[in-house]
Amino acid sequence: MQQPVVLVTGANGEIGRALLERLHREGKYRVVTVDLTPLPERLRPMCLETYAGNIMDRYLLDQIAAHHEIEVVFHLAALLSTRGERDPELAHQVNVEGTLHLMRVAQNQSGRLGRAVRFIFPSSIAVYGMPSVAEKATAGRVREDLYNLPITMYGCNKLYCEQLGRYFAHHYRQLGALAGAARLDFRSIRFPGLISAETVPTGGTSDFGPEMLHAAAQKHPYTCFVGPDAKIPFMTMPDAVRALLMLLEADPKKLTTTIYNIGAFSASAREIADRVKAAFPGAQIDYQPDPVRAKIVDSWPEDVDDTRARDDWGWKPSYDFARAFDEYLVPGIANRYRAGRTS
Ligand code: SER
Repeated sequence: MQQPVVLVTGANGEIGRALLERLHREGKYRVVTVDLTPLPERLRPMCLETYAGNIMDRYLLDQIAAHHEIEVVFHLAALLSTRGERDPELAHQVNVEGTLHLMRVAQNQSGRLGRAVRFIFPSSIAVYGMPSVAEKATAGRVREDLYNLPITMYGCNKLYCEQLGRYFAHHYRQLGALAGAARLDFRSIRFPGLISAETVPTGGTSDFGPEMLHAAAQKHPYTCFVGPDAKIPFMTMPDAVRALLMLLEADPKKLTTTIYNIGAFSASAREIADRVKAAFPGAQIDYQPDPVRAKIVDSWPEDVDDTRARDDWGWKPSYDFARAFDEYLVPGIANRYRAGRTS
Protein backbone atom coordinates (compact mmCIF):
# COMPACT_ATOMS: atom_id res chain seq x y z
CA MET A 1 0.00 0.00 0.00
CA GLN A 2 1.23 3.53 -0.75
CA GLN A 3 1.96 5.70 2.24
CA PRO A 4 1.10 9.39 2.05
CA VAL A 5 3.97 11.73 1.28
CA VAL A 6 4.87 15.40 1.25
CA LEU A 7 6.00 16.71 -2.14
CA VAL A 8 8.57 19.52 -2.06
CA THR A 9 9.29 21.37 -5.32
CA GLY A 10 12.39 23.55 -5.53
CA ALA A 11 13.82 21.32 -2.82
CA ASN A 12 17.38 22.26 -3.74
CA GLY A 13 16.72 25.96 -3.20
CA GLU A 14 17.40 27.89 -0.02
CA ILE A 15 14.06 27.31 1.68
CA GLY A 16 13.87 23.78 0.29
CA ARG A 17 17.11 22.59 1.85
CA ALA A 18 16.25 24.07 5.24
CA LEU A 19 12.77 22.57 5.09
CA LEU A 20 14.10 19.10 4.20
CA GLU A 21 16.40 19.11 7.23
CA ARG A 22 13.59 20.21 9.52
CA LEU A 23 11.14 17.61 8.14
CA HIS A 24 13.80 14.96 8.54
CA ARG A 25 14.50 15.97 12.16
CA GLU A 26 10.81 15.81 13.00
CA GLY A 27 10.45 12.46 11.26
CA LYS A 28 6.71 12.88 10.87
CA TYR A 29 6.48 13.08 7.10
CA ARG A 30 7.93 11.07 4.22
CA VAL A 31 9.32 13.42 1.63
CA VAL A 32 9.49 13.28 -2.17
CA THR A 33 11.36 16.09 -3.90
CA VAL A 34 11.62 17.59 -7.33
CA ASP A 35 14.17 20.15 -8.47
CA LEU A 36 15.93 21.07 -11.68
CA THR A 37 19.26 20.16 -10.12
CA PRO A 38 20.01 16.97 -8.18
CA LEU A 39 20.05 17.30 -4.38
CA PRO A 40 23.44 17.22 -2.68
CA GLU A 41 24.45 13.78 -1.44
CA ARG A 42 23.97 14.65 2.23
CA LEU A 43 20.26 15.56 1.73
CA ARG A 44 19.24 12.55 -0.35
CA PRO A 45 18.96 10.04 2.50
CA MET A 46 16.40 12.39 4.09
CA CYS A 47 13.99 11.75 1.24
CA LEU A 48 11.91 8.79 0.17
CA GLU A 49 12.58 9.68 -3.45
CA THR A 50 14.20 12.59 -5.30
CA TYR A 51 13.40 13.59 -8.87
CA ALA A 52 15.65 15.85 -10.96
CA GLY A 53 13.42 17.59 -13.48
CA ASN A 54 11.42 20.61 -14.48
CA ILE A 55 8.04 21.48 -12.98
CA MET A 56 7.02 22.52 -16.50
CA ASP A 57 7.25 18.83 -17.43
CA ARG A 58 3.66 17.70 -16.98
CA TYR A 59 4.59 14.12 -17.73
CA LEU A 60 7.11 14.09 -14.88
CA LEU A 61 4.57 15.57 -12.45
CA ASP A 62 1.96 13.02 -13.50
CA GLN A 63 4.50 10.24 -12.99
CA ILE A 64 5.30 11.49 -9.48
CA ALA A 65 1.58 11.70 -8.69
CA ALA A 66 1.00 8.20 -10.04
CA HIS A 67 3.72 6.74 -7.84
CA HIS A 68 2.90 8.52 -4.59
CA GLU A 69 -0.07 9.43 -2.51
CA ILE A 70 0.64 13.13 -2.09
CA GLU A 71 -1.16 14.66 0.84
CA VAL A 72 0.86 17.87 1.19
CA VAL A 73 2.63 20.03 -1.39
CA PHE A 74 5.24 22.64 -0.54
CA HIS A 75 5.56 24.38 -3.88
CA LEU A 76 8.81 26.27 -3.44
CA ALA A 77 10.18 26.27 -7.01
CA ALA A 78 10.35 29.78 -8.49
CA LEU A 79 12.52 32.32 -10.28
CA LEU A 80 13.11 35.21 -7.86
CA SER A 81 12.68 38.90 -8.54
CA THR A 82 16.02 39.94 -10.05
CA ARG A 83 16.27 36.81 -12.19
CA GLY A 84 12.67 37.35 -13.24
CA GLU A 85 13.44 40.84 -14.56
CA ARG A 86 16.23 39.38 -16.70
CA ASP A 87 13.80 36.94 -18.32
CA PRO A 88 10.19 37.93 -17.54
CA GLU A 89 8.61 35.42 -19.91
CA LEU A 90 10.52 32.51 -18.39
CA ALA A 91 9.58 33.81 -14.91
CA HIS A 92 5.93 33.76 -15.93
CA GLN A 93 6.24 30.24 -17.31
CA VAL A 94 7.90 28.83 -14.20
CA ASN A 95 6.17 30.91 -11.56
CA VAL A 96 2.64 30.86 -12.99
CA GLU A 97 2.30 27.98 -15.45
CA GLY A 98 4.45 25.74 -13.25
CA THR A 99 2.27 26.60 -10.26
CA LEU A 100 -0.86 25.86 -12.26
CA HIS A 101 0.55 22.40 -13.15
CA LEU A 102 1.20 21.70 -9.48
CA MET A 103 -2.26 22.86 -8.48
CA ARG A 104 -3.81 20.61 -11.11
CA VAL A 105 -1.82 17.64 -9.79
CA ALA A 106 -2.75 18.45 -6.19
CA GLN A 107 -6.39 18.93 -7.15
CA ASN A 108 -6.45 15.52 -8.85
CA GLN A 109 -4.85 13.99 -5.77
CA SER A 110 -7.52 15.56 -3.57
CA GLY A 111 -10.14 13.83 -5.72
CA ARG A 112 -8.24 10.54 -5.52
CA LEU A 113 -7.76 10.70 -1.73
CA GLY A 114 -11.25 12.07 -1.12
CA ARG A 115 -9.84 14.81 1.07
CA ALA A 116 -8.23 18.19 0.47
CA VAL A 117 -4.51 18.10 -0.26
CA ARG A 118 -2.79 20.91 1.65
CA PHE A 119 -0.92 23.17 -0.75
CA ILE A 120 1.58 25.46 0.97
CA PHE A 121 2.78 28.33 -1.18
CA PRO A 122 5.53 30.85 -0.37
CA SER A 123 4.48 34.26 -1.57
CA SER A 124 6.49 37.40 -0.94
CA ILE A 125 6.71 41.06 0.04
CA ALA A 126 7.33 41.48 -3.70
CA VAL A 127 3.54 41.52 -4.21
CA TYR A 128 3.55 45.05 -2.76
CA GLY A 129 4.32 48.18 -4.72
CA MET A 130 4.78 51.28 -2.60
CA PRO A 131 4.03 54.34 -4.75
CA SER A 132 6.97 56.39 -3.42
CA VAL A 133 9.80 56.28 -0.92
CA ALA A 134 8.02 59.00 1.07
CA GLU A 135 4.86 56.91 1.33
CA LYS A 136 6.90 53.82 2.16
CA ALA A 137 8.42 55.69 5.10
CA THR A 138 5.03 56.74 6.48
CA ALA A 139 2.96 53.63 5.64
CA GLY A 140 4.21 51.67 8.66
CA ARG A 141 3.21 48.01 8.80
CA VAL A 142 1.39 47.21 5.59
CA ARG A 143 -1.71 45.01 5.64
CA GLU A 144 -2.22 42.16 3.16
CA ASP A 145 -4.86 43.99 1.14
CA LEU A 146 -3.01 47.28 0.66
CA TYR A 147 -0.57 48.43 -2.04
CA ASN A 148 -0.99 45.28 -4.14
CA LEU A 149 0.68 46.89 -7.17
CA PRO A 150 3.94 45.01 -7.76
CA ILE A 151 6.57 46.42 -10.13
CA THR A 152 8.33 43.10 -10.84
CA MET A 153 7.27 40.11 -12.89
CA TYR A 154 7.98 37.93 -9.85
CA GLY A 155 5.70 40.08 -7.69
CA CYS A 156 2.93 39.92 -10.31
CA ASN A 157 3.37 36.15 -10.54
CA LYS A 158 3.15 35.66 -6.77
CA LEU A 159 0.11 37.94 -6.44
CA TYR A 160 -1.71 36.12 -9.22
CA CYS A 161 -0.82 32.66 -7.86
CA GLU A 162 -2.22 33.62 -4.46
CA GLN A 163 -5.49 34.31 -6.26
CA LEU A 164 -5.19 31.13 -8.28
CA GLY A 165 -4.81 29.21 -5.03
CA ARG A 166 -7.85 30.90 -3.53
CA TYR A 167 -9.78 30.02 -6.68
CA PHE A 168 -8.72 26.35 -6.55
CA ALA A 169 -9.56 26.20 -2.85
CA HIS A 170 -13.01 27.72 -3.08
CA HIS A 171 -14.33 27.97 -6.63
CA TYR A 172 -12.60 25.44 -8.90
CA ARG A 173 -14.98 24.12 -11.57
CA GLN A 174 -17.89 25.68 -9.79
CA LEU A 175 -20.21 24.95 -12.70
CA GLY A 176 -19.09 21.39 -13.31
CA ALA A 177 -20.08 17.99 -12.04
CA LEU A 178 -17.10 18.11 -9.64
CA ALA A 179 -18.39 21.22 -7.91
CA GLY A 180 -18.97 19.33 -4.68
CA ALA A 181 -15.72 17.31 -4.74
CA ALA A 182 -12.78 17.81 -2.37
CA ARG A 183 -10.85 20.93 -3.33
CA LEU A 184 -7.33 22.07 -2.52
CA ASP A 185 -6.56 23.39 0.92
CA PHE A 186 -4.42 26.31 -0.26
CA ARG A 187 -2.42 28.34 2.27
CA SER A 188 0.17 30.99 1.48
CA ILE A 189 2.71 33.06 3.40
CA ARG A 190 4.13 36.35 2.19
CA PHE A 191 7.75 36.04 3.25
CA PRO A 192 10.05 38.96 3.90
CA GLY A 193 13.67 38.74 2.72
CA LEU A 194 15.13 35.55 4.19
CA ILE A 195 18.60 35.20 5.69
CA SER A 196 20.21 31.82 6.23
CA ALA A 197 23.49 31.00 7.94
CA GLU A 198 23.83 27.97 5.66
CA THR A 199 23.10 29.16 2.13
CA VAL A 200 23.32 32.30 -0.01
CA PRO A 201 20.33 33.14 -2.20
CA THR A 202 20.58 33.64 -5.95
CA GLY A 203 18.46 35.78 -8.21
CA GLY A 204 16.62 37.74 -5.53
CA THR A 205 16.59 41.43 -4.70
CA SER A 206 16.61 41.09 -0.92
CA ASP A 207 19.94 39.27 -1.43
CA PHE A 208 21.99 42.29 -0.29
CA GLY A 209 21.37 41.33 3.37
CA PRO A 210 22.59 37.74 3.21
CA GLU A 211 25.30 38.54 0.63
CA MET A 212 26.83 41.18 2.90
CA LEU A 213 26.98 38.77 5.80
CA HIS A 214 28.35 35.78 3.90
CA ALA A 215 30.97 37.95 2.15
CA ALA A 216 32.21 39.28 5.50
CA ALA A 217 32.36 35.79 7.01
CA GLN A 218 34.60 34.75 4.11
CA LYS A 219 36.69 37.94 4.39
CA HIS A 220 35.57 39.08 0.93
CA PRO A 221 34.88 42.76 0.24
CA TYR A 222 31.22 43.47 -0.63
CA THR A 223 29.71 46.12 -2.85
CA CYS A 224 26.06 46.60 -1.95
CA PHE A 225 23.61 47.05 -4.85
CA VAL A 226 21.25 49.28 -2.85
CA GLY A 227 21.97 52.44 -0.87
CA PRO A 228 22.52 52.42 2.92
CA ASP A 229 18.98 53.66 3.68
CA ALA A 230 17.17 50.92 1.73
CA LYS A 231 14.99 49.19 4.30
CA ILE A 232 12.78 46.09 4.11
CA PRO A 233 11.58 43.35 6.45
CA PHE A 234 13.82 40.32 6.94
CA MET A 235 13.53 36.99 8.72
CA THR A 236 15.86 34.12 9.60
CA MET A 237 15.52 30.88 7.69
CA PRO A 238 14.64 28.81 10.81
CA ASP A 239 11.72 31.15 11.47
CA ALA A 240 10.61 30.89 7.83
CA VAL A 241 10.61 27.10 7.95
CA ARG A 242 8.85 27.09 11.31
CA ALA A 243 6.16 29.34 9.84
CA LEU A 244 5.63 26.96 6.90
CA LEU A 245 5.09 24.06 9.29
CA MET A 246 2.87 26.08 11.63
CA LEU A 247 0.65 27.08 8.74
CA LEU A 248 0.62 23.51 7.41
CA GLU A 249 -0.59 22.23 10.74
CA ALA A 250 -2.98 25.08 11.56
CA ASP A 251 -6.59 24.14 12.22
CA PRO A 252 -8.50 24.91 8.99
CA LYS A 253 -11.45 26.18 10.98
CA LYS A 254 -9.29 28.94 12.42
CA LEU A 255 -7.99 30.20 9.07
CA THR A 256 -9.83 33.33 7.94
CA THR A 257 -7.85 33.87 4.72
CA THR A 258 -5.57 32.04 2.31
CA ILE A 259 -2.89 34.79 2.40
CA TYR A 260 -0.79 35.71 5.43
CA ASN A 261 1.92 38.29 6.02
CA ILE A 262 4.52 37.27 8.56
CA GLY A 263 7.05 39.62 10.11
CA ALA A 264 10.17 39.35 12.25
CA PHE A 265 12.34 42.48 11.97
CA SER A 266 12.95 45.33 9.62
CA ALA A 267 16.46 46.58 8.83
CA SER A 268 18.19 48.94 6.43
CA ALA A 269 21.32 48.03 4.50
CA ARG A 270 23.30 50.30 6.84
CA GLU A 271 21.90 48.64 9.98
CA ILE A 272 22.83 45.22 8.59
CA ALA A 273 26.29 46.46 7.57
CA ASP A 274 26.91 47.90 11.05
CA ARG A 275 25.93 44.63 12.68
CA VAL A 276 28.06 42.63 10.23
CA LYS A 277 31.08 44.87 10.89
CA ALA A 278 30.64 44.40 14.64
CA ALA A 279 30.68 40.62 14.19
CA PHE A 280 33.44 40.53 11.58
CA PRO A 281 35.83 43.41 12.32
CA GLY A 282 37.59 44.54 9.19
CA ALA A 283 34.63 43.67 6.93
CA GLN A 284 34.75 45.84 3.83
CA ILE A 285 31.35 47.05 2.65
CA ASP A 286 30.68 49.85 0.21
CA TYR A 287 27.65 50.98 -1.77
CA GLN A 288 27.14 51.21 -5.52
CA PRO A 289 23.37 51.20 -5.93
CA ASP A 290 22.06 49.55 -9.07
CA PRO A 291 19.20 51.87 -10.11
CA VAL A 292 16.78 49.08 -11.02
CA ARG A 293 17.43 46.76 -8.09
CA ALA A 294 17.38 49.73 -5.69
CA LYS A 295 14.03 50.83 -7.15
CA ILE A 296 12.63 47.33 -6.61
CA VAL A 297 13.69 47.38 -2.95
CA ASP A 298 12.19 50.88 -2.59
CA SER A 299 8.88 49.49 -3.90
CA TRP A 300 8.69 46.92 -1.07
CA PRO A 301 7.28 47.98 2.28
CA GLU A 302 9.44 48.79 5.27
CA ASP A 303 7.44 46.41 7.41
CA VAL A 304 4.35 44.20 7.28
CA ASP A 305 1.30 43.83 9.50
CA ASP A 306 1.09 40.18 10.48
CA THR A 307 -1.89 40.44 12.85
CA ARG A 308 -3.87 37.86 10.88
CA ALA A 309 -1.15 35.21 11.15
CA ARG A 310 -0.73 35.95 14.87
CA ASP A 311 -4.48 35.73 15.49
CA ASP A 312 -5.32 32.75 13.27
CA TRP A 313 -2.39 30.39 13.84
CA GLY A 314 -0.29 31.88 16.59
CA TRP A 315 2.58 33.25 14.48
CA LYS A 316 5.39 34.81 16.52
CA PRO A 317 8.99 35.06 15.31
CA SER A 318 11.71 33.51 17.46
CA TYR A 319 14.39 35.88 16.20
CA ASP A 320 14.32 39.66 16.32
CA PHE A 321 17.22 41.62 14.79
CA ALA A 322 19.55 41.23 17.78
CA ARG A 323 18.84 37.55 18.42
CA ALA A 324 18.99 36.76 14.68
CA PHE A 325 22.60 37.93 14.53
CA ASP A 326 23.80 37.00 18.02
CA GLU A 327 22.26 33.57 18.36
CA TYR A 328 21.79 32.29 14.82
CA LEU A 329 23.55 34.07 11.96
CA VAL A 330 26.95 34.93 13.40
CA PRO A 331 27.65 31.61 15.17
CA GLY A 332 26.02 29.60 12.36
CA ILE A 333 28.00 31.28 9.61
CA ALA A 334 31.28 30.97 11.47
CA ASN A 335 30.62 27.24 11.82
CA ARG A 336 29.61 26.85 8.22
CA TYR A 337 32.82 28.35 6.81
CA ARG A 338 35.00 26.68 9.42
CA ALA A 339 33.55 23.37 8.30
CA GLY A 340 34.35 24.43 4.72
CA ARG A 341 31.12 23.00 3.31
CA THR A 342 30.64 23.66 -0.36
CA SER A 343 27.02 22.59 -0.72
N1 SER B 1 13.66 37.19 -1.66
C1 SER B 1 12.83 37.45 -2.80
C2 SER B 1 13.52 38.21 -3.83
O1 SER B 1 14.40 38.95 -3.46
C3 SER B 1 11.60 38.21 -2.39
O2 SER B 1 10.62 37.29 -2.10
O3 SER B 1 13.18 38.13 -4.95
